[in-house]
Amino acid sequence: MAEKISVLISEDEVDKRIAQLAEQLSNEYEGKVVHFIGVLKGSVFFMCELAKKMTVPVTMDFMSVSSYGNGTTSSGIVKLIKDLDESIEGREVILIEDIMDSGRTLSYLVKILKERKPASFKVVTLLDKPERRVVEIEPDLTGFVIPDRFVVGYGLDCAQKYRNLPYIGVIAE
Ligand code: PRP
Repeated sequence: MAEKISVLISEDEVDKRIAQLAEQLSNEYEGKVVHFIGVLKGSVFFMCELAKKMTVPVTMDFMSVSSYGNGTTSSGIVKLIKDLDESIEGREVILIEDIMDSGRTLSYLVKILKERKPASFKVVTLLDKPERRVVEIEPDLTGFVIPDRFVVGYGLDCAQKYRNLPYIGVIAE
């Protein structure tokens, strides 16, 4: 049976917020080349939209980690599935996430990536659920702070479905 999804953040609101983030980052990195690192798979939609709106050159690479078990609760174990293709040493790195939840994924990634000596390192997340945090870590820039609801769309899935929704939705209970 298909789930009923209601809109939490509309396509228009998401687009406008991403444009603001892109403007802020473009100003901050004026005259530099920014290296986006996307965490597969959820961050892909946000990363592309943000990159399209940037006015400084953007290069891209991807990583894949597994942080969840099969359900909707975190297993607490973060495992590296796919590493970056290129070195980040001396580069202006921005790690792109779709959502921050417990903070375990980000804390793991920040640790391993900072050891690789980027020139600068920043974390941008489209969504943040601070209520769920178990590790003390904060993004540098956030699109929207949201309540503790199970969200889908704009890269976020429910059993791999709904990533392609152009808005952030919640599945009706
Ligand atoms: C999500 C999200 C983050 C992580 C956040 O990825 O993209 O990487 O969970 O959760 P945390 O703060 O509790 O660590 P997920 O493992 O669902 O993979 P996906 O992006 O492929 O859907």
